[in-house]
Amino acid sequence: MIRIAHLSDLHFGAHIPGLVEPLLADIARFAPDAIAISGDLTQRAQPEEFAQAAAFLAALPAPCVAVPGNHDIPGGAVLERLADPRRRWRRFIGAETEPMLLLPGAALVGLDTVRRVQPRLDWSAGGVSSRRRARLAARLAACAGRSIVVVAHHPLRHPAAIPGRSAPIGGEAALAMLADAGVAAVLSGHLHRPGRIPGPPEIVLTGSSLSHRTRGLPNSWTLVELDGGALRVNAREDSGDGWRAA
Ligand SMILES: [Fe+2]
Ligand SMILES: [Fe+2]
Repeated sequence: MIRIAHLSDLHFGAHIPGLVEPLLADIARFAPDAIAISGDLTQRAQPEEFAQAAAFLAALPAPCVAVPGNHDIPGGAVLERLADPRRRWRRFIGAETEPMLLLPGAALVGLDTVRRVQPRLDWSAGGVSSRRRARLAARLAACAGRSIVVVAHHPLRHPAAIPGRSAPIGGEAALAMLADAGVAAVLSGHLHRPGRIPGPPEIVLTGSSLSHRTRGLPNSWTLVELDGGALRVNAREDSGDGWRAA
């Protein structure tokens, strides 16, 4: 069995400092094999926010696969956004925005759904280009024989009732490709609410794990267990007086 602690939308810079240590302790209690962080590590992609996020990653009790969210590329620095939007990520977090982690019998594969520009007003909504889909397909083929979990900031399909939020361009095409590849689950965030969206592959959503941008819901993280072909999902939430089963 493989245990993954799924965190999301940390938003360092808009985080709750007093939650950091209790969150790390709650994750460690479950002795996960790996940790997935589905994007928005920072609030405004500022160097000091990335430095805080990097310190958090260094304190995690297991190897981590983290992908960027729309908040992790500069918004105001337009030239940098257009020319090299992932420069700060590479400087503070790692060389890859699509890292991969191989475990005995399983693989975690990152998918970067952030887009620097979009052919629509909402540039935060993300997308998966045909080139990225092809790259991902090749990487999934290299994981044949393992249970595969994909980590992507934007949910490739949205829950039925999310007014005012757009799904990523190319999301359905990416989901179809993931289904063909036999992917067990996709771990996502962005909407700041926990949940499950039927697949295949099923999309597991975690709310904001550390920030005050919770849209009235508790902070949360999710314990995802892969046991053969079975997927078990157990959400954890902050009660205001410690973490508990949701
Ligand atoms: Fe977010
Ligand atoms: Fe986001």
